[in-house]
Amino acid sequence: MASFKPSHILVFGATGNIGKYIVNQLIAAKPPFPQISVFTSANTVSTKAELLNKWKAAGVSVVVGDIKDSTDVKNAYQGVDTAISCLGRGALQYQFELIKQADESESVRWFFPSEYGTDPDHNPSSAHEKPHTFKRAVRKLFAEELKNLKPTYLVVGPYIEMWVPKDLISGFDIQKREATLLEDGEQPIGFTAMDDVGKGVVAALQRPEVSVGKALKIASFTKSSNQVLAEFEKQLGEKFNVTYVPLDDVKSVEKKFWDEGNPLAVMAALRRIWVTGGAVYDKLDNEALGLNDGQLQSLEEAIRDRIAGKPF
Ligand SMILES: NC(=O)c1ccc[n+]([C@@H]2O[C@H](COP(=O)([O-])OP(=O)(O)OC[C@H]3O[C@@H](n4cnc5c(N)ncnc54)[C@H](OP(=O)(O)O)[C@@H]3O)[C@@H](O)[C@H]2O)c1
Repeated sequence: MASFKPSHILVFGATGNIGKYIVNQLIAAKPPFPQISVFTSANTVSTKAELLNKWKAAGVSVVVGDIKDSTDVKNAYQGVDTAISCLGRGALQYQFELIKQADESESVRWFFPSEYGTDPDHNPSSAHEKPHTFKRAVRKLFAEELKNLKPTYLVVGPYIEMWVPKDLISGFDIQKREATLLEDGEQPIGFTAMDDVGKGVVAALQRPEVSVGKALKIASFTKSSNQVLAEFEKQLGEKFNVTYVPLDDVKSVEKKFWDEGNPLAVMAALRRIWVTGGAVYDKLDNEALGLNDGQLQSLEEAIRDRIAGKPF
């Protein structure tokens, strides 16, 4: 597939948190991809009409259907050679059928499963991490069962836009000038801005020789929590009140959330994984994908956007 050029790309979960950034970058790609379609639910057609109309005006086809309906999916795959899944965590279990149908289809040859986060194969302990269950199972499906379809997995670490706001584990309250950081705040983390995730997908599509069959790792910048804090303080010209939370406390809260069936357990687990080195890699694929520093967001730009309250 080294000389493969995507000619018709179909995106699942296109209007979601990361999907919209990916579709916007697909639309902006140079040279343009010949055909882009998005598969979306009837509900989303009514709730996100403005976004879908904007994309239609840019030449994107909107296919309405149910990802759980095999006939809808089969019809949507007609003539498509590349599928990109941006389905949310609540829908990851439906990917198995989507992928098997793609493998059996006459035209689909390349599939980007919904990853865009933490590497589910980072180290031996990754196998036991609950947030990775479906993502690891999808990788296993490709490795052991599929015949025709090739995957590309894009690992990006935490989105800086979603990592900054304070939740029950850690984060920044910019208005109050408060930060809750984990451990001593010194662990480097590979962050990616959401726009840069879209750029990463486009770069992978444009370079099948680098990306087909690979788990690619990109980051806009790799910085510690203390460096993020220092950037906030520099730009605002004020010190923050900082609380450092020991890892054992994070683990206790995480365990409590899992025991209660609280959906925040996933976020707690991911924040623990990131602060114990789960989002730093031996080597990034930025360069292989032609994503040079100037093309990706810097820490300075990312923090400027957070201070300005830029929506994401
Ligand atoms: N790195 C990070 O910091 C980070 C943060 C968040 C997410 N992620 C990852 O990014 C990927 C996408 O997540 P997201 O937050 O962007 O997704 P999302 O906004 O939650 O959902 C994306 C789309 O998936 C479809 N969907 C969601 N739940 C569904 C359900 N129960 N049944 C059927 N369809 C459903 C909907 O599409 P339609 O209605 O159009 O069909 C929705 O717009 C995931 O793999 C997630 O783990 C990473």
